[in-house]
Amino acid sequence: MDSVKFHHNTWNWGESWKVVINEGDCLGEVSIQSESPEECFVSGISTIPEARRKGLASFFLKIAEGIAAEHHCKYMALYVEKEQKENIAFYKKRGYVRHAEDGPWYEMRKTIE
Ligand SMILES: CC(C)(COP(=O)(O)OP(=O)(O)OC[C@H]1O[C@@H](n2cnc3c(N)ncnc32)[C@H](O)[C@@H]1OP(=O)(O)O)[C@@H](O)C(=O)NCCC(=O)NCCS
Repeated sequence: MDSVKFHHNTWNWGESWKVVINEGDCLGEVSIQSESPEECFVSGISTIPEARRKGLASFFLKIAEGIAAEHHCKYMALYVEKEQKENIAFYKKRGYVRHAEDGPWYEMRKTIE
């Protein structure tokens, strides 16, 4: 996809990537952070309503998992609201399992091969 833009940044705690799909309008975005040598964290994954159900969020997860693999992270982590059943099902179908609870959130993780 030609229109995938990466913004790479470095911080005192590690590195981050913002990935945006832009076809004239921004169709979606995701943030990816290397939290520790073991963990890559993905947050803020969203696609605009008109662009949903076309595989963009799945594509973002693949990009995030690719970055995690390149950085030899052992797992991807993310937070999802306990009440967002569809989102939980979305991540489960893509290999994420519940790891911990934190107030209204579940932490879900996926092992990176
Ligand atoms: C969740 C979200 C990112 C999915 O984006 P997408 O580009 O449509 O995702 P894909 O096309 O790759 O996959 C579609 C999946 O979304 C799931 N989904 C999540 N929420 C859904 C909803 N409210 N209605 C319908 N499907 C939903 C579907 O189950 C579908 O999974 P399937 O392939 O098993 O059918 C998008 O609905 C969104 O931006 N929602 C608002 C922001 C949000 O909740 N982000 C997640 C934070 S944890």
